[in-house]
Amino acid sequence: MTPVPLIERYRDRLPLEADDPVVTLNEGSTPLIESRVLSERVGAPAYLKFEGANPTGSFKDRGMTVAVSHAKASGAEAVICASTGNTAASCAAYAARAGLRGAVIVPEGKIAIGKLAQALMHGARVVALQGNFDEALRIVRELAEKHPIELVNSINPYRIEGQKTAAFEVVEELGEAPGALAIPVGNAGNVTAYWRGFRELGVAPVLYGFQAEGAAPLVRGEPVANPETIASAIRIGNPARWEEAMDAFTASRGRVAAVSDRQILDAYRWLADTVGVFCEPASAASVAGLLAHGMPVVEGDPPKSVVCVLTGHGLKDPDTALSKAPPVTNCENDLSAVERAVFD
Ligand code: F0G
Repeated sequence: MTPVPLIERYRDRLPLEADDPVVTLNEGSTPLIESRVLSERVGAPAYLKFEGANPTGSFKDRGMTVAVSHAKASGAEAVICASTGNTAASCAAYAARAGLRGAVIVPEGKIAIGKLAQALMHGARVVALQGNFDEALRIVRELAEKHPIELVNSINPYRIEGQKTAAFEVVEELGEAPGALAIPVGNAGNVTAYWRGFRELGVAPVLYGFQAEGAAPLVRGEPVANPETIASAIRIGNPARWEEAMDAFTASRGRVAAVSDRQILDAYRWLADTVGVFCEPASAASVAGLLAHGMPVVEGDPPKSVVCVLTGHGLKDPDTALSKAPPVTNCENDLSAVERAVFD
């Protein structure tokens, strides 16, 4: 069955007018997958919210359907964003869907190849900046001030509104709030959105955020000038929603912690070859963090369950996958050779 477009499913809780156009690719309603092996490792029922199942392969589509619908309603002709890749892919797709022009500014050579292919195929103007994400975001903010173009980064309030629906889905699916939510943190929009969604439902799971060690400004308490990590999606040194994210961690009695690239890559492979879910490296930070740091410790009862958000699909980044996966077994065209290749 086709998923109900997110705006239709949650219309009464989103800031759109009844007659606003709805720009949708039938996003949202993504699977919540129980994992027995992960549950055993963390000692509590553990679930994966697989956001890679969205139309462009990441959670960004939840925010983009609302932001681009609003842009269309307000008469915008073009949308723009800075991006580590997924926002660019989503922005380009929804712009195409809406008949708007799209422009995306990405750090040169630092976005996964699948995301680049998406942005280009959807017809956006793709600008590769000789700088990092934080610098790209500063520039697009200025451009959006100067020109009649809608900025669709997560500083756009409609993005957060759309993304909060993932929290609604988690609670609906479980029939109650999870004890804890583990989530990768980059520009800090998504953790802000989940917290808003949970608060609107009157629930407060412990938020457990993870940044890559080389790009962990929230953990360090200061911006990182030259962030570095294999998880290119979260290679961000100065998150736009810094204060809101820190407030959410505090209010939920949770925290933000760092994970090394090694831990990210181990979780990334383990999720694919043992759990059966292929996410991108940045997404694996949620599971890597949970495995490295254990279930969050709060006063009173330990969290009774945990949901790990897997933010994007593994197919986004085939280069990292192929460089970390075992090699292909080559074989001559012969039955017994194939037999040896398969069974030895
Ligand atoms: N996971 C993935 C796969 C992402 O693409 C991002 C952010 C995050 C996690 C972190 O989410 O920024 O809301 O804290 N990607 C943005 C982009 C920055 O441009 O695609 P956040």
